[in-house]
This record gives sequence, structure tokens and C-alpha cells, in this order.
Amino acid sequence: MSSFESQVVIVTGGALGIGGATARKFAKEGAKVLIADFNEEAATKNVNLILSQGGIAAFSHIDISKSEDVNRMVQEAIRQFGGVDVLVQNAFSVVAGENNIHGSAVTVKEESWDYGMDVMLKALYLGAKHCIPHMQRKQFGNIINIASVHSFLQEPNMLVYETAKAAVVGLTRQMAVDFGPDNIRVNAIAPGHIVTEGLQKVWTQNPSGLQFFENQYPLRKTGVPDDIADGIAFLCSEQASFITGHTLVIDGGLSIQLQEKFGIQQGVFARKHPEVQIPDAAYYEEK
Ligand SMILES: NC(=O)c1ccc[n+]([C@@H]2O[C@H](COP(=O)([O-])OP(=O)(O)OC[C@H]3O[C@@H](n4cnc5c(N)ncnc54)[C@H](O)[C@@H]3O)[C@@H](O)[C@H]2O)c1
Repeated sequence: MSSFESQVVIVTGGALGIGGATARKFAKEGAKVLIADFNEEAATKNVNLILSQGGIAAFSHIDISKSEDVNRMVQEAIRQFGGVDVLVQNAFSVVAGENNIHGSAVTVKEESWDYGMDVMLKALYLGAKHCIPHMQRKQFGNIINIASVHSFLQEPNMLVYETAKAAVVGLTRQMAVDFGPDNIRVNAIAPGHIVTEGLQKVWTQNPSGLQFFENQYPLRKTGVPDDIADGIAFLCSEQASFITGHTLVIDGGLSIQLQEKFGIQQGVFARKHPEVQIPDAAYYEEK
């Protein structure tokens, strides 16, 4: 029997990227997977891929920033698959152009703050709010919230993202304490740079920039969506049955380095490779 046989799993943002790989991973392990996303074309493609491989999956068309859509997503999981055992709260696009969340407290638009907080934070509270009563009835459930290395390390000019992702760690710990007595485990994952379909397109335009990026990692590589999907599946598995409230950093060692030596390392790399197009250089050139 596969590890998640007969479990119902909701993956928000399950069409592409980390969510896409997570949906496929759970389906491969025998789960019934609801892909909740606003990209209908990509989500349908992922559902069809899962079905073609003998898995079970369905699509729920939602915009996670809308409260009523989060509620509907949970109701659809219950109607189609009879419950919800695992909720993976992942939806947010780091490459999407609209609702640009870049900026400082002075420059970021109020509507960008609201959108970022709605998608990255409020949706996680609402997803839990609607799923947990069903998990309590079964006295079983797992929730995984997707944080980031940005939960712990600040990138300049990223007020909304860094604030929301830091709060995801606190939200995870709080929910773990509140619902541990119901045998509901709540954990988070903090990925480093994961080259998704969208980021692959960005790097194809700048392969030397990707090499510069990879050099930042002690393992000298960036991650792939399956690295995170595997971590999520582990945290929801029986092997992790004593782990709750934890944020698992999956970042190839990026965040354990001494910052000042790390700066020297990247400076030397740029000197050895003068042709390199350093990613995001414009902001630093201005300062
Ligand atoms: N890729 C990385 O390097 C990286 C690193 C750290 C954390 N993360 C986090 O991982 C999560 C997934 O990121 P990704 O890189 O896989 O993104 P992605 O852009 O590859 O995929 C995001 C998915 O979420 C969906 N989505 C976005 N906004 C939505 C909304 N409002 N309603 C419904 N669906 C929505 C998109 O359609 C897409 O299918 C995000 O929370 C992100 O912050 C990513």
C-alpha cells in the first residue's frame, strides 16, 4: 500500500512549480488530490497528467485571495473525495507581474500589501479554519504551510514578502499548539531558490546569472520542485509523526553561511567570470 492511499490532499497553487510537483507526488503515493488554482489551463494539464498515470485528481478553480473561494475549495474536496486529510498551503507566484509586491514601507502600494497578505497569510488562516473542523472529527490531519528562506533573511526592498513569510512561521507554530491535541500536525517548509517552470524561463534568458546564483549554494546547485515535494510528503508521513510546529529549511545550505565571507566568495566569482550578468544588479547599483 502506498503511503497516502485513501487520503484526500488539497494543494493550493497545485498547477505549476512546487505545488505542481507536490500534487503529482501525493497522487503517485495513492492520494486523491484536489488542485486548487486560478490557472485553469496549467491545472487541467496537471490533472490530466496525473490521471494518465493512473492517479486520482480534480481541479478547483479558485483565487486564494478571496475568502469565499477558500471555503468553496474545502467544500469541493469534501463533496468530490469525502473529506480532507492533508492541506498544502502553497499558492503564490514569485514570478507573476501583476500585484507587484516589490518595495519598501515607503514605496510599496497599499493594494500590493493587501494582496500579498491575503494570498500568503490570510488564505492560510482561512484554509485551516475551513479544514480543521473536518480533521478534528477524524482526529487526524496534516497541514503544510510554505514559508521561505525569506522568513528568516531579509532581501532589501521586499517588505511584503519578507513580512508575510516570517509570519507563516509563527502561524504554523500557533496552529501546531492549538490543534496538536486533535492529532493534527502543522509544519512549514522554507525553500531556497527552486527553479520552477516560470523561473526556468527567466534563467534561460540569463544562463550566466544562474551559474552566479548556483555558486551561492554550498551544494553548488539550486533546487527543483521535487526537492520540496519530497520534504512535504515526508512531513505528512508516519515517519514524521512526532514532528509538529517545525519549519524545515530545504535550501542546499544557502542560509547557514557566514554572510561577510559569502560576499567575498561571490565577488571572487564575478572577478573570475567577468562576462556574468549578475541577477537583480540594478537595485544594488543604484544604492
Ligand atoms: N520558487 C522558489 O524559489 C520559492 C522559494 C521559496 C518559497 N517559495 C514559495 O513557494 C510557493 C510556490 O512558489 P512557486 O515558485 O512554485 O510558484 P509558481 O509561480 O511556480 O506556482 C505558483 C502556483 O500558484 C498559483 N497561484 C498563484 N496565486 C494564486 C492565487 N491567488 N489563487 C490561486 N492560485 C494561485 C499559480 O497559478 C501557480 O500554479 C510560494 O508560496 C512561494 O512563495 C518559492
